[in-house]
Amino acid sequence: MPDINLTIRYLRIFSGMILFVYVVTHLANHSLGIISLSAMEAGRVIFLNFWRSTAIAYTLYGALIVHLIVGIYALCVRKTTKLSFKEWVRNISAVLIPFFLASHLAMTLYGSRVLNLSDNYHFMIVVTWVFDPVGVAGLTVMLILVWVHAAIGIHGLLQFRQFYIYNRRLVLAFYWLFPTLALLGYYSAGMEAKGKASLNADFILETLVNSRYSDEIGKEILRMSNLGQFQIFPLVLISILSFYFARFLWTRSRRDLRVTYPNGKVTSVSKGTSILEASQQAGLSHESVCGGRGRCTTCRIKVLSDITDLPPPNQIEKRVIDRLKFDENVRLACQLRIKKDIKVVPLISLSKQETGNIRFQTQSRMAGTESRIVVLFTDLRGFTQLSDSKLPYDVVYILNKYFRFVVQAIEANKGKVDKFIGDGVMAIFNDQNDLSEACKNSINAAADISKGLEKLNIELQSEIENELRIGIGIHMGNAIVGQMGYGKTSSETAIGDTVNVASRLEQLTKEHKCELIISKALGDAAKVKLEHFTKTSVNIRGKKDLMKALILEKASDHAIYKTQ
Ligand code: FES
Repeated sequence: MPDINLTIRYLRIFSGMILFVYVVTHLANHSLGIISLSAMEAGRVIFLNFWRSTAIAYTLYGALIVHLIVGIYALCVRKTTKLSFKEWVRNISAVLIPFFLASHLAMTLYGSRVLNLSDNYHFMIVVTWVFDPVGVAGLTVMLILVWVHAAIGIHGLLQFRQFYIYNRRLVLAFYWLFPTLALLGYYSAGMEAKGKASLNADFILETLVNSRYSDEIGKEILRMSNLGQFQIFPLVLISILSFYFARFLWTRSRRDLRVTYPNGKVTSVSKGTSILEASQQAGLSHESVCGGRGRCTTCRIKVLSDITDLPPPNQIEKRVIDRLKFDENVRLACQLRIKKDIKVVPLISLSKQETGNIRFQTQSRMAGTESRIVVLFTDLRGFTQLSDSKLPYDVVYILNKYFRFVVQAIEANKGKVDKFIGDGVMAIFNDQNDLSEACKNSINAAADISKGLEKLNIELQSEIENELRIGIGIHMGNAIVGQMGYGKTSSETAIGDTVNVASRLEQLTKEHKCELIISKALGDAAKVKLEHFTKTSVNIRGKKDLMKALILEKASDHAIYKTQ
């Protein structure tokens, strides 16, 4: 049986996306007013050919109705009025938009579809700018409300996507420039219409006649507009508010379940309240970076009381739990709706100061994002024995020489040193435009590191008894890339299974007595000839199945294949 929450979420997203595309194209059409009214009309022909074709038009109306219904549903089922500023803005704009939209739809949709009026830009601009200054203000307010509502929704949907975070300036420019250009277009067209009206006494009459406008049509549009704005809108709003408050009072009287927090704080809630809502109701700071959409895990909690009677995870939560392999007593507070008393501890609980310091925020690339990256690990073999037989200064000297060529090899192949771990190095190749190139570069870097070591061994011939050896492991896959750490010590790094596997492959070079092991997935993605590698299967700790891998005894042997 489909999960109702997931279904509603998808309905909201898909209907919202359709409406957003409509709004973007509509505003782009408005922007043409900066050029001229005629340019707006020309743009409108393309706009209407698409949006008023039967199938698309019904999809659009359907999306509008669905978005309205799921929005009302979301408002009605909300158990707390404690909202963030962004949520308040989104909800208030959602409530006000229908009021302004009613008059606009009466003119455009009802006028064109029922009264056979041509709602072209000349007509729309003339009737507002020449006859109805309040209408100009109304359309301006509606445009701003629609855009703010849409922008908050789109931001919530995309805020964790890498392209969104990495192109933040572009995104911001889009959010600000788009409505500004649309308003400038609308205002410029208004000025043009007024200018034409003052120069040509027949301009207004011609515009009205061309639009098939008559006094009867005007009265009918006004009647429909008033019906929508002053009868249907207040009625629906009062119904929703009445329902919400009746439900609020009813659930308040039934707050017979207790949520206990570690500091001894206890809050009473009604059945079906989510733990996140309970925390908000209790005035506790409970992280919820994605706003309760089950997309971030910052709200996760550990359940300290008996977990046997907990409701099973819904599909949104299950997807996260399966993927991140949470313990069975770790749940998402925004998704877990309680049916009995419960004792929990939020696992990420930040004070305001901490929130500022812990660099793991949503507003920039500091947000962790999931990306496909390449991770390379190197480790110097036998270095411990060497350090035992050398003076510390000599050890530092050798180590620095080693680090120099390793870093040079990684950077020359467009990688980035992520961290030094003792005598080991972790590097990331994160080319989001061409992952195949990143894979190829990482193997080339391994070859260059091996060549660097050969040179170092020649240099140190007279000083060391045994040659230095190296182990390198490389793997590619999904990892969370983000700014992690505390205060000034935070830096961008990657975590996740891909990192662990790369590290494990590096360790396996000892067992296989070779310099380089790469995963087969990486080898395939690199799209280069790798016949000089030996195919094998390796055991990765924590994984049930053997993993296909490719082995090269001397990584520098790959250098001769580099150009292929
Ligand atoms: S708030 Fe993001 S998953 Fe719960």
